[in-house]
Parts: sequence; C-alpha cells; structure tokens
Amino acid sequence: MTGFFDLLKKRRSIRDYEEKDVPLDLVKEIIRESCLAPSSGNGQPWRFIIINNRDWIEKLSDESKKNILSFIEQNPDAPLKQYETVLRDKHFNVFYNAPCLVFIGGSKKTGSIQVDCTLAACYFMFSAQARGLGTCWIGLGTNIQNPEIRKQIGMPEDYRIVAPIIIGYPRTIPDTPERMDPHILKTVR
Ligand SMILES: Cc1cc2nc3c(=O)[nH]c(=O)nc-3n(C[C@H](O)[C@H](O)[C@H](O)COP(=O)(O)O)c2cc1C
Repeated sequence: MTGFFDLLKKRRSIRDYEEKDVPLDLVKEIIRESCLAPSSGNGQPWRFIIINNRDWIEKLSDESKKNILSFIEQNPDAPLKQYETVLRDKHFNVFYNAPCLVFIGGSKKTGSIQVDCTLAACYFMFSAQARGLGTCWIGLGTNIQNPEIRKQIGMPEDYRIVAPIIIGYPRTIPDTPERMDPHILKTVR
C-alpha cells in the first residue's frame, strides 16, 4: 500500500478512465472508510447514493448541464458562464464517462452538512487512491433538480448534494496542477 505522504502528493483528479467497472463491494468499502472522517458533534450526517450504471450517469450529466445552462441564461454574469461552451457540447459528459458516481450529501436541515460531507469526500478520495482507483469531485454535477430523477435515484426531498465524486480505474494521470506557496497571513509568537 502507498505511504501516507505519497498519497497526499500523488492524488490527482482523474478525468480519463478505463472501461473496467469498479466492483460494488469495493465502492462500499471505500464509503465505509469515508465514514471514519470527523464530523460536527460526531453527527455523521452523510448519506451516499451510488450510481453504478453508465446510462444513468449520462442521464444525470444531461440533467445537470440543462440546469446549469438555464441558470447561466438567467445569470449571465455568474462565474459558471465560463463553462457555457463546453456545457453546450452534447458529447461532453460532466462525469467524464466514469463507470461509477457517488453522491455524498445529506439533509439541508443539518447546519454542518457541507463541511461534514466535504470531509467524508476527502477521505473517500484518499481511500480510493490507496486502492489504485482514481476520483474527481464534480462540482458541475451538483444540479440534479428534476423531482422524478431524484426520486428514481433514491434522493430524499431535503437532500443537498455536496460532493458528486466519480470513481474508476485511471487511464491517464495528469501532471500536478501548480500549487501556490502557503499564504500564511501572520505567525503570532
Ligand atoms: C469543490 C470542487 C469542485 C470541482 N468540480 C470539478 C468539476 O466540475 N469538473 C472537474 O473536472 N473538476 C472539478 N474539480 C477538480 C479540481 O479541478 C481539481 O481538484 C483541481 O484542478 C486540482 O487538481 P488535483 O485535484 O489533481 O490536485 C473540483 C474540485 C473541487 C474541490
């Protein structure tokens, strides 16, 4: 198994996957490890939805694209505008044709849902990497609004999607995007 510091340095967002499916048991094991993350008051409010079906993943990509494009039309100054061209490309799948997608989220009523689920997502990404799998957090995949689609994938009405994470066996591993030096505002001694 890769050492911890190697995991930190070598984790990359993977956007190109092999055709190979990810065994469901493995995804569940990774989810189990994600639940080792800290959470506010140990509330563990994260709820997971596994989409292990390529047709469904494409359908969810279309739904997300449609909703973001309609948002951009109503808010032309929004930063999301930069993605308009790619989102209009009908061949572009926001989930990069990954074999599996896991939504990490939970009840909107939980005040700490964003933070808790983000921590679980972080554990998820490292646990997957330690097993030779690649992941990518897909912010563009958050816009699943259609009530019928949400119902069919088992998403409760008050469910906030925090982290849609794709997972699969990497085909290409990109170079490390440049990191800035830490911006320490002040050290008080
Ligand atoms: C909140 C969040 C949203 C992201 N959304 C997307 C996305 O929609 N599409 C994508 O290709 N990558 C997305 N990423 C991945 C980032 O682009 C990536 O983490 C960043 O470029 C640094 O690269 P690295 O993860 O390989 O270090 C997202 C990452 C985060 C944390």
